Amino acid sequence: MQPKRILLIVGGGISAYKIPQLIRLMRAEGLSVTPVLTQAGAQFTTTMTLSVLAGEPVHEALFDIGTEAEIGHIQLSRNADLVVVAPATADLMAKMAQGIANDLATTLLLATDKPVLIAPAMNVRMWDHPATRRNRETLARDGILSVGPDSGDMACGEYGPGRMAEPEAIVAAIRDALAPHPQPLAGRHAIVTSGPTHEPIDPVRYIANRSSGAQGTAIAAALRDLGARVNFVTGPASVAPPDGVNVIRVETARQMRDAVQAALPADIAVMAAAVADWHVTNESGLKMKKDGSGNPPALDMAENPDILRWLSNDASRPRLVVGFAAETHDVIAHATAKRLRKGCDWIVANDVSPATGIMGGTENAVTLITEAGPEEWPRMDKDKVAARLAARIAEALE
Ligand code: C5P
Repeated sequence: MQPKRILLIVGGGISAYKIPQLIRLMRAEGLSVTPVLTQAGAQFTTTMTLSVLAGEPVHEALFDIGTEAEIGHIQLSRNADLVVVAPATADLMAKMAQGIANDLATTLLLATDKPVLIAPAMNVRMWDHPATRRNRETLARDGILSVGPDSGDMACGEYGPGRMAEPEAIVAAIRDALAPHPQPLAGRHAIVTSGPTHEPIDPVRYIANRSSGAQGTAIAAALRDLGARVNFVTGPASVAPPDGVNVIRVETARQMRDAVQAALPADIAVMAAAVADWHVTNESGLKMKKDGSGNPPALDMAENPDILRWLSNDASRPRLVVGFAAETHDVIAHATAKRLRKGCDWIVANDVSPATGIMGGTENAVTLITEAGPEEWPRMDKDKVAARLAARIAEALE
């Protein structure tokens, strides 16, 4: 069998000193390694070291747009089985998230049609910076795989997450990325609701909630990754929907119900949307004005359709119906009662008290409640929660 080819892009960070060791381990795994050294990376490790260990020339030339050499370089990123970026600096991640291609490494990253694995490494404040957080989310949504960073003492004297994963862990992630991915949900149809709903008061005002849609989006992507055909019914979320799913945008709970109904039949329904409980029945066609009396207008409200409850009890009920329970106290008791009240199979319960930072954040700590009882999962990225849930769904449908 041909050895798997790894295009290894070496960014400019102090942890580049671990790259020679990484290359040795990769070679020991039988991988062939083509190194690409960025200008910044060359400050921390040398062309000579990398090429001797890889047994291949190192690519590092800046190039003229449109030359034959450039086209040859693009070919580099197509010939690889996997592109690995280590260390992936804040700068490289920002460029990847934006699609900037202004040197060889970033051009290869934009031109590749192969999976990409990054091993981030940077100062802890840079890692925690909102800009880097945004970029991390964007890259994850784009399907970029990542390993690390680890927490610990940093070369700059600070402590926290930001150390590049150890070479052994990077090799394990490479092995995983190269492994054939089973598609246990191939041929299955999943409906996922996500995001908040907006319930209009007048043409410019609405009732909403703080849901970002991040967890529902991650679940749709995870089901897609396992081969499911996904209809993704989303309210006005603040994160972009995933690629490779059919996106149905709605505003109100009533539209969401209609969209779910139209997407039936399905094998799986995951209702992750934070659906508003009420809508305004005396919605004004014109913008409401203060009338000078000092009295606020009276809003008449009616209950929204409970999509989860309706679907769980409908004749067209999907085989597996999963609901969510966002609670601020007595999470498990409330969620256990909710599972029975709604008639769904599972409830994913989470504590959304402001102190947890879960609503709008990148992590989630959930308890899965099934017929067998509650099962507490450790706090992890919403993507990981989604992958684990999707794997459980696949298991349940086997
Ligand atoms: O009753 P509660 O809103 O707490 O229930 C949450 C679960 O029910 C979530 O899965 C949510 O998507 C779903 N739900 C729904 N339609 C509603 C209200 C909630 O599908 N009107």
